[in-house]
Amino acid sequence: MALLECEGLTRRFGGLVAVSSVTMQVATGEVRAVIGPNGAGKSTLFNLINGVLPPSAGLVRFDGEQLTGLTPAQVCQRGVSRTFQLTALFPEMTVRENASLAAQARDAQRWLPFGGGAVFHRARAKADAALERLGLSHVADRPAGLLSHGDQRLLEVAMALAQEPRLLLLDEPTQGLSVEETQQAVETLKTLLAGGELAVVLVEHDMEVVFRLAHKITVLHRGAVIADGTPEEVKADPGVQAAYLGDFADAAD
Ligand SMILES: Nc1ncnc2c1ncn2[C@@H]1O[C@H](COP(=O)(O)OP(=O)(O)O)[C@@H](O)[C@H]1O
Ligand SMILES: [Mg+2]
Repeated sequence: MALLECEGLTRRFGGLVAVSSVTMQVATGEVRAVIGPNGAGKSTLFNLINGVLPPSAGLVRFDGEQLTGLTPAQVCQRGVSRTFQLTALFPEMTVRENASLAAQARDAQRWLPFGGGAVFHRARAKADAALERLGLSHVADRPAGLLSHGDQRLLEVAMALAQEPRLLLLDEPTQGLSVEETQQAVETLKTLLAGGELAVVLVEHDMEVVFRLAHKITVLHRGAVIADGTPEEVKADPGVQAAYLGDFADAAD
């Protein structure tokens, strides 16, 4: 059974239909890429899944429970974490402190009086585990702002992972990286995702990254799903080539 189910998910902004009746499923162990040119509705879809925006119609189910109507914090509590397209780090805090803060944000007992010490230690252990998995242990005590751009993007993933999600939403994890940094990040992500215990939705512009990481691809065009299948199926789809790859080449310039 799918862990994440979007059914007829729709979001309007005035007269614009940014996300149009999107139906999509993601199972545990599956990496699903969502691709489409600028303005296709990818970020809006993320915002609908994690509760930043309410849908105009349709629903999101996670492990059988409806997420629609929950706040982003409540969605995170259920086990859905996301990275952000814009760097959301505290540059003067250490790498470990950044990851610990992210872990604490999910801890249901973080506001209990006298619970502070236990919460702190728990968060630190989760942070260290996440940093280890992303190969960042050796820079744990460094201020986040001093990391290379590539390591900062991996730290964003580590912060989401420190929340111990069951569903991870990755928003363009290789954006702004050099060719070498991208290759390194893809290797790290591939190892991380091979564990099979996570469901992943990946929004990504770089088609090589998509084809290296994704098991399934959903193609959005003007908010609607125009293709859904394995990378091979999507690559061979004439509708995708006509509607999307031309636009994509333009958007990638
Ligand atoms: N808060 C908003 N208010 C009005 N229009 C929006 C808002 N957010 C996104 N849009 C519009 O919705 C469409 C989809 O945007 P977005 O989801 O950001 O696309 P993508 O991430 O695929 O580039 C675009 O036309 C965008 O201008
Ligand atoms: Mg976007």
